[in-house]
Amino acid sequence: MMGTTPVVVLKEGTRRERGRGAQFGNIQAAKAIADAVRTTLGPRGMDKMLVDSMGDVVITNDGVTILKEIDVEHPAAKMLVEVAKTQDQEVGDGTTTAAIFTGELLKRSEEMIEQNVHPTIIAQGFRMAAEKASEMLNELASPVKASDEDTLKKIAATAMISKAVSASREYLADVAVRAVLSVAEKVGDSWQVDEDNIQMVKKQGGSFSDTQLVDGIIVDKERVHPGMPARVENAKIALLDAALEVKKTEFDARIQISDPQQLQAFLSEEESILKGYVDAVEKAGANVLFCQKGIDDLAQHYLAKEGIYAIRRVKKSDMEKLAKSTKGRIVSKIQEIVKGDLGSAKLVEERKIGDDDMTFVTGAKDGKAISILLRGGTEHVVDEVERSVDDAINVVRAAVEDGKMLVGGGSIHTELSLALRDYAVSVGGREQMAIEAFAASMEVVPRTLAENAGLDSIDTLIDLRNAHKKGKKHHGIDIYSGKVADMRKLDVLEPLRVTKQAIASATDASVMILRIDDIIAGKEFEAKGGEGEEGAGGEFD
Ligand SMILES: Nc1ncnc2c1ncn2[C@@H]1O[C@H](COP(=O)(O)OP(=O)(O)OP(=O)(O)O)[C@@H](O)[C@H]1O
Ligand SMILES: [Mg+2]
Repeated sequence: MMGTTPVVVLKEGTRRERGRGAQFGNIQAAKAIADAVRTTLGPRGMDKMLVDSMGDVVITNDGVTILKEIDVEHPAAKMLVEVAKTQDQEVGDGTTTAAIFTGELLKRSEEMIEQNVHPTIIAQGFRMAAEKASEMLNELASPVKASDEDTLKKIAATAMISKAVSASREYLADVAVRAVLSVAEKVGDSWQVDEDNIQMVKKQGGSFSDTQLVDGIIVDKERVHPGMPARVENAKIALLDAALEVKKTEFDARIQISDPQQLQAFLSEEESILKGYVDAVEKAGANVLFCQKGIDDLAQHYLAKEGIYAIRRVKKSDMEKLAKSTKGRIVSKIQEIVKGDLGSAKLVEERKIGDDDMTFVTGAKDGKAISILLRGGTEHVVDEVERSVDDAINVVRAAVEDGKMLVGGGSIHTELSLALRDYAVSVGGREQMAIEAFAASMEVVPRTLAENAGLDSIDTLIDLRNAHKKGKKHHGIDIYSGKVADMRKLDVLEPLRVTKQAIASATDASVMILRIDDIIAGKEFEAKGGEGEEGAGGEFD
């Protein structure tokens, strides 16, 4: 017999939200996140200062850094943060663009849902539009060669124009391009860039124009003893991951010494062990020693006497880089070190950077590793220099690997937007509306660029559309004159991958968010989410 007693499926305290309430709640949250980074887009974008619960401050223009730092709780908002993270991992630039594009797609979806267009139709239309956009992007892209350093520099400079380092972007672009090209390897017909070969070393002090490229590895350590040479040419490098110390016993041992001779013997035993270690290093033919562990004072003295340059407590990651680059082997047993284990480099020297001494290993055997010594007046500046140079390296890498670039400044987005509107008409049906919404969403890029530059966004968009209708494919927003102009002539160039990935991940995320019509939240989430009745909209914001 069927009873009328309700069946309890969900645990007590579980919150459930269905239908439009769920959809609109999600969309609101995602829009709020997109709005958080809007004002940072483009050359006239502003920076954000983020202060965490510990009082640590980050000042940045980088979309993904902002989104990672803010503590987001809403699940849909978290998905938007994921979009930025994906963009960062896949390409390394365009994170702000990806986030605001997702926000715009969802905003337009909300309007369609209100007009009773089913979310699956919207999702379908978005997918079709994204696919078409990707095809068109391939056609619109122009080739760029790895040998074309000038163009690559322009691409790097475009990525840095919106950052605090903008004034030095020409110089930093040159650093980024040289770094990428020196580690690029030709595989078959294409190029591959292993970013791990580019080491970024931050040192507070100086200004960001003091940032320099070093053809080798920098280890942020000074030699352990002033008696050691500060400069070793033709370096034969021993890499040790054992301590040059006499092991202390783990338990408290007491040694009773009754006559002075015994004490002497005891001490000289220690001495001879340490001397033995140094002898082993010296016998192998090393004149430089990088030690991952400690070096006893007495061992330091012996090393200095042998004229060996030594540093201790080198980071494991640095040891691995050194091994790779100098073609040396990391040895764990000091006594077993032999000539064949040694790495080599033309020069190992100590240089003073700011207040600190650092070790520079240049002209290594393998020669692939390269370092960028990042400088900046304060800790926050150096951090932002690092993020900016990282963006530049990533765009150059994408351009070198794919060999394709696009023209930026809102030009590509306007061109796509118009083409997609034509495509929408050719598709017809209900999807047409969604494709049109997708096309309109593309214009969020030029619109935001204009808004951030203090221009009238409506006039600018109309000018842009008119120019593109007349076949001026590369027209975008010249932030400085406030007019619409040819962005290729203004050297605003970007790798194809940035725009392509931004469209792909924004589409995926918005489709995923749109398809949700039921949110079942456990007790914990409810506790943080505030109060509200089942089915009430916006209870999570
Ligand atoms: N000189 C310029 N004039 C007009 N627009 C420009 C110029 N230089 C760059 N842009 C545009 O600025 C946008 C990039 O801005 P920005 O670097 O702030 O954001 P992002 O790359 O999306 O995100 P992030 O760099 O934070 O990961 C691109 O659309 C680019 O075409
Ligand atoms: Mg950028």
